[in-house]
Amino acid sequence: MITPRFKPSLLLVLLAACSDEDATTMSAPLLAAAGSAAQPTLSELVARGEYLARNVGGCADCHTPRDAMGAPIESQYLAGAECFVRLDNGGCLHTSNLTNHESGLLNRTDAELERMLVDGVRPTPAGDELLYPVMASYVLHNMRGEDIDAIIAYLRTVPGVAHDVPPRAPEFVPSGPATPLDVNAIPQPMAGYAEREAALRGRYLAAEAGACIICHTPRDLQSAEVLDYSRFFTGNERFDVGLPEESVARNITSDTLTGIGDFSADDIVNVLKRGTDPNGVGICPPMLGLFAGLTDGDALDIAHYIKSLAPLPGLAEDSCVFPPI
Ligand code: HEC
Ligand code: HEC
Repeated sequence: MITPRFKPSLLLVLLAACSDEDATTMSAPLLAAAGSAAQPTLSELVARGEYLARNVGGCADCHTPRDAMGAPIESQYLAGAECFVRLDNGGCLHTSNLTNHESGLLNRTDAELERMLVDGVRPTPAGDELLYPVMASYVLHNMRGEDIDAIIAYLRTVPGVAHDVPPRAPEFVPSGPATPLDVNAIPQPMAGYAEREAALRGRYLAAEAGACIICHTPRDLQSAEVLDYSRFFTGNERFDVGLPEESVARNITSDTLTGIGDFSADDIVNVLKRGTDPNGVGICPPMLGLFAGLTDGDALDIAHYIKSLAPLPGLAEDSCVFPPI
């Protein structure tokens, strides 16, 4: 089956997580939420786009190649990772070069970028190609227009890196388009949840602009919906991260038996920003460090949304312990 090819060195992943954390203090302030009359300046737009691409949308994580030890290669930031997903027969899916080089996005118009991002379509001289839904355009489809504009403005500032990404294996040519995630199907905070406003802000970050819903929902990349609408946030996606055990995405609904009903909002913030669970046990890749650069406010909003999810049974196992004993 299809296994994402993360081979992080334990030490380097840990270091990367720490340096990400240092970066939080410098990271871009959030722009005023929708409703503010002032138009953001270009530099505010770019800062917001960088924040989303590095810390919320996972763009940098998937689109930056890694060295043999699994650490991101900063000189090839966003230049496309070859064989990001490898089939048993050796066939590969690569992530695209998003930098300002001919081999990347330099000659793409803003309109083309937007179609790739939110419609999952890659325009080519021979016609449109569908992107394989590991690229979650079906989720990003629901991102707010101003955030899409911010990401595009930011991508325009990324230094060009020459890297011709090879064609994907035929197995990764989708047979049909992925259906955009139905925004009304994304779970709402449970009735009576005290921090409802925060949870609603977190819902946007976790399920419309961000990646929590993708990894933490059972997924079938061959189906049009991709995500199992009856089991949002119940986990079960498996990741080969180069550790003795596979890392299995947890049920993060408030089910107390199989989920994380006994976590407080601060416990969830600690998972995101510091990579430790309430028992002080380290969280495994690919989650480790991915969200260390979230602002404290965004991390808390996401935590309230996760806390507010109605309990659903899922997998009880927590197979992966980091560092491994
Ligand atoms: C889980 C990994 C993953 C994440 C997260 C991700 N991408 Fe992708 N992206 C891919 C893959 C894989 C492809 C190539 C799909 C294909 O060729 O069928 C791709 C393709 C693209 C393309 C098409 C470019 C081209 O010319 O082929 C764009 C644009 C893009 N991604 C932008 C983004 C942005 C911006 C983000 C963050 C909001 C992002 N991606 C997040 C995996 C990812
Ligand atoms: C790239 C895939 C991926 C993404 C994106 C992701 N997770 Fe996870 N998450 C995992 C995996 C895998 C585990 C299990 C790690 C382990 O066993 O140590 C996990 C574990 C967790 C845990 C449980 C920790 C524990 O001790 O049981 C929480 C809480 C969590 N994730 C919340 C989130 C939130 C909130 C988001 C979005 C901001 C998110 N995750 C995004 C893959 C992901």
